[in-house]
Formats: sequence, C-alpha cells, structure tokens
Amino acid sequence: MKKSQIGDPLDRVDGRLKVTGGAKYSGEWKLPDLAYGVLVPATIAGGSVTAIDARAAQRAPGVLAVITPFNFPGVPGFKTDAPQPVRGLKLFNDNIVHFNGQPIALVIADTFERATYAASLVRAAYQKESFDTDFHASIDKGVVPQGGRYKDYVRGQADAYKGAPVVVEQEYIQPSEMHNPMELHVTMAVWDGDDKVTVYTKSQGVIGTQRSIAGAFGLKQENVQVNSRFVGGAFGSSLRTWPHEIAAVMAAKLVGRPVRLTLTREQMFTLVGYRPLTVQKIGLGATPDGQLVGITHESHSQTAGYEEFTENSVGCSRFLYASPNANTRYKVIPLNVGVPAPMRGPGEATGSFALESALDELAYALKMDPIELRLKNYADTDPERSLPWSSKYLKECYARGAERIGWSNRPGTPGSLREGDWLAGYGLGCGAFGAYRSRAMARIKMTSDGAVNIQSATSDIGPGTGTAMTLIASDLLGLPVEKITFELGNSAYPMAPTQGGSSTVSSVGSAVHDACLAFRKKCYELAGQPGDSTTPIDYTTLLRQHNLPYLEVTEASQGGDQPQHYSMYSFSAHFCKVHVHPLTGVVRVKQLIAVVDAGRIVSHKTASSQMIGGAVGGIGMALTEEAVFDNSYGRYVNGNFADYHVPVNADIPDIEAIFIDKPDPYINPIGTKGIGEISLIGVAAAVANAVYNATGKRVRELPITPDKLV
Ligand code: MOS
Repeated sequence: MKKSQIGDPLDRVDGRLKVTGGAKYSGEWKLPDLAYGVLVPATIAGGSVTAIDARAAQRAPGVLAVITPFNFPGVPGFKTDAPQPVRGLKLFNDNIVHFNGQPIALVIADTFERATYAASLVRAAYQKESFDTDFHASIDKGVVPQGGRYKDYVRGQADAYKGAPVVVEQEYIQPSEMHNPMELHVTMAVWDGDDKVTVYTKSQGVIGTQRSIAGAFGLKQENVQVNSRFVGGAFGSSLRTWPHEIAAVMAAKLVGRPVRLTLTREQMFTLVGYRPLTVQKIGLGATPDGQLVGITHESHSQTAGYEEFTENSVGCSRFLYASPNANTRYKVIPLNVGVPAPMRGPGEATGSFALESALDELAYALKMDPIELRLKNYADTDPERSLPWSSKYLKECYARGAERIGWSNRPGTPGSLREGDWLAGYGLGCGAFGAYRSRAMARIKMTSDGAVNIQSATSDIGPGTGTAMTLIASDLLGLPVEKITFELGNSAYPMAPTQGGSSTVSSVGSAVHDACLAFRKKCYELAGQPGDSTTPIDYTTLLRQHNLPYLEVTEASQGGDQPQHYSMYSFSAHFCKVHVHPLTGVVRVKQLIAVVDAGRIVSHKTASSQMIGGAVGGIGMALTEEAVFDNSYGRYVNGNFADYHVPVNADIPDIEAIFIDKPDPYINPIGTKGIGEISLIGVAAAVANAVYNATGKRVRELPITPDKLV
C-alpha cells in the first residue's frame, strides 16, 4: 500500500456505506421512546389565527401534545432582549400568519402515522387580511436592502450603454425554484435534564446549528450536541437553522421524550427557502468592433415580509468584463411568502443567466462570435476593485471548451443547422464565484498501530468532503488512504465553518493540511531530527520507541490579508449543444462541457461528480424547474415531484467536466478556489444561448418549456 496524492481519482471513501444503506441519515437514528412531530400549516396567506380547536386531535390515539400559539410554552431566544435573539420566523410565538403554509400548530404523538392523522383533525379560525404575493404586480414596490448589502454601484458613468453605437437592452425572468434535495428536512432532539440537548438534524454546519440552538434555549454551547453525519443533498437549504428545528427541540422538552420532526415534500416548498423569483434588466452598449462601452444590470427579487433575504445577482456584471462604465441596482420586494435562501450558485447563477444571455444577444447584434466578443472584453485585472486576480485562466477555459464541443460546427445563422429531424445549436455561458476561505480546525490522532483518525466539525452535503480530506492527509502524511479515517458532522469535533459558498476544501482542507504538517513536525521533534514534508517517517517505530499509545495534534488554520491584495474567483465556461424539435418545441441537451478554473483540484473523481451535478441543476433551471404560484390563494400549486419537474436521467446527456487544474498561489496552502457554485453559474445561459442558435428564438423567461418555442 502506498500513499495517494492530491489530485488522485480516489473512490468516495463513504461510497460503499451510501450505496449499501449503511450510511445513517439524520432521520434514521432510532432512540427509545421516540415521539413524532407533525406540523399543521396555515391555509391563508395573510392575517391571524383567532382560535384553534385541537380537541379532536388531543383525543386521537397516541397524541401527547398539540402546541399552538395559544398554549405555546415559549422559547427564551424569541424575546427580543435575549442574549442571542433568534432571527427570522418565531414559530408559535404569536398568532400572525405571514404566508400560506406557515405552521400554526405542532402535533406530537407516539407514531408518525398517528401524529399525521391527528394533525389532520386540527381546526383553525382565521382573521383574513389582504395579502400580496403577486411579484409582477408589485415590482414597483421594491426596496433597497437594509444594512448596505448590495448597494447600488457605479463605475464611470451610469447607464452609459444607452449612448453606444450598438445597444442591447432586455429583461430576463427567473421563476422561484426549490432546492428539492432528495432527503427531506428532519430534526430529532433528545434532552438530558434541563440544560443539555442532543440533536440529529439535516445541516450544512453543525457548529452553526449548535450556536443557534444554544442561543434559542439559553444553553451553554457545549451543552448542545449536533449530529449531521450524512446529508442527502441540501444545495443551500440547510445553511441556517430553520424554525422547525427549534420547534422539534422545544417539543422534545415539552413532552419529556425524544421527538423527531420530518417535513413533508410539500412543506419543503414553504419552510426551507428557495431561489427567489427575480426579474433582471441588462443594458449592454458596444462599439461596432465589439468593445463594451457600458454594462447596466438591474435586479428585482422577491423576499418575505417578515425577513429580508438578499443575494448577489448583480455582482458578476461589475467585474467579469472590462467595461469602462458599469452600474448595478438591486431591490427586493417583500411579499406574503416564505423567506428565500441561497440555492446552489445562488444569486450569481441567477445573475449570470441575464448577463450571459445579453452578451450572446450582443454578439449576434455585432455579428461576432460569442467567444471572440468575450476575448475582446477580457478583464486582465479586476475592473471593480482595480486589483490583480490571484489567478485567472478563463481564456484557457474558452479554448479547451470550444475545442472539446466542436465550436467550429456552430452555425453563424441561427436555425440553419439540421441534424436529422432536429434543429441543432451551440451556446456558451460563463460564470465567476468568489474563492473564500475561513478559519477551520482539524485534529489528527495516530494510534500505535499507525492508524490515523482525523476529525473536524465540517459537513458533507454530497461533494465528498471526507474523500478530499483523506487525499490531502494521505499525501502529506505519506500514508495509504486505507490507514486514514476522516470524521465529520459532529459539533463535538474541532470547529469548522458551515459548508457553503464553495469553500470547504479551501477552509477545512487547509486545516487538515496544516495539521498534517504540524503532526510531521512533532514526529521530527520526537526523533530529534530535522525533516521536511518529503522526509519519510516510520510512525509506528517512532511511537513504540517513545512508548506512546497515540500521538495527537490539533491545528487551527486561517488565511491572511491576501484577499485585500488580490481578487480571488473561480471561473467557468459552460459549452452546450442542444437539439430542438421544430414541431413540438422539445429541447434535448445533447452535450454539455463544463470547463472550470477552480485552482488545484484535490479529488478529481468527486470534483467531476460535483461539476456534473451542478450542470444537471443548471439544465433544470434552464428547461424544467418552476415553482408555480397561485396568487388567488397565495400558494404553490406544484409542491410535489410530479408537478415540479427536476431533470431525470432521460433529460441528461453526457456531461463532461474539464479542469484547468492550476493552483492559485495566494488563497491557501493547497491552491484550491472552489467548485460548488461555479458548477451551476452560467449553465442556464449556455442552454438558452444554444436554443437560440438552434431556433432563432430568444427565450428570456425560464424555464424554456416547449410552449415558448412553438
Ligand atoms: Mo451553498 S448555496 O453556499 O449551500
């Protein structure tokens, strides 16, 4: 057995557990005396609950409690003067209804089925008030987000595009989309006395959840233990602690038993966030030879009346292209809806659909190749911050992708290429996402048999965290992967940030990297010899000679001031080939090549999987996904997998990920920039641009369903 190297295509270290059912997801932990909670949703979109008749539910078999706003025992962190007040919706704290589907009662019973039945017996009386869920009718009621987030931006002159010789000015619409991870959101809580609780929950960050629950219940942080060992997808829906998680912990305390609360698929459409409906206007102006004169990007997004959500939909337009003039505006529209949340790629995925579609439109207006147009306006330094890039290989991405997909076959005239019964077309969409790194810790413990255990309170919502960390440790410790286990998803482990913003390998990977080097240093000290990262170490002999049952190192790792001197981004170019049926309007993605500059790639196999997964999400965004809202009742009408269409296998072609794989010299010791978000940013535009190339029809409102093409 020999060591692996960073970059090796290692199989997923927990793959066998996942495919054999051995992986325990949060809803699968069994505890003695477990009780089950089921939420009762409001059926109005605005007003208040005036009374709840829970008598029939209370009498139903197995029911332990029915919690409503009228008998709510309270949560300490709901008080505004609490040391750590709970943010967002405070479930059952008052009788106000902010949106259709908001929980107004929680039934707890001894089985899930009995709780579900009893929940159906709860009756509510409402005082209905007027509500507003109609985004398009309310678009003029947009407000500038609070606290200076995503402030208006001007470089040079605002709206300079209007005076340019060639102008594109268009509006792009992106409907609300649901994360829809396969695994439902679930929380199980068990109290030990009055001041200690253990929680099993679907979470992207066990430390974040631990802090939220400790704050909500006024507990010491170490008295809250949070477990989230396996997560069946989350896409941003588990970045925060949701009201139902607090409710489950509260319910377990009330009934004095462990309680598990699982959302239904329909409740997943209202209670755990979504990509918000966004209308964007892009103005592009250029000289006849394709030099950008001005970029204007305006974005309007929906949010909740009770909590503001913002995201970076306009950001890319400030720095992706070298225009002397650029300006962005961003407003949110508070409605009677549940609060949105980041959804993979978040605002950047939404923004890039508009910007990259508009750029494609400009290329046709100029009669220029879309790659040539992008090269003509290539930003060699960051025009927004006037700083050098830490690394940028987007030109290489264009070249590699164009070659791979056969860009030279792209018809210059839309609608002119036939392949059998189908119209064929090619499209390109690009993206960028900030390369972030935050403080993280890891602990390495080697026992006398030479086995290594590494722990960090990070998560794995699917990308393969453990696999990447095992590769880093194998490489740096010089040990085969079989000797290494990596444990995560437990708040008792050394601190790690929430898994989000494409930064896990940069943050936690750096901690594992630094811990490995510290571990080696300790070994050299024990041996009384100097050494460096290439000097081989006979660990077992060393431990035996020193009579050590084990050797342990805990290391914290964080970046320095590099982000102040360099602009750090991952970059991507997504190339797409589609077929469109001229009679039925059916779109078939035939090929998708995702070329990404994400710095060094630690784990090629899982990284490719992640790029492919993101592309599937992008194809869904482009072609199928839409949460359809009925404004007369203020609720979704397709809150299920039959009517909300995510792509299935038959919708997905060969997708290929190509990595430039050059380390970034500044961001962290490994040189990684992150791939989670960039895997999706730009994909929807690539598909939409390919559809235009195939048909000559420009669809500016997603999803591109057949009715929009015939
Ligand atoms: Mo991601 S949208 O940062 O989970």
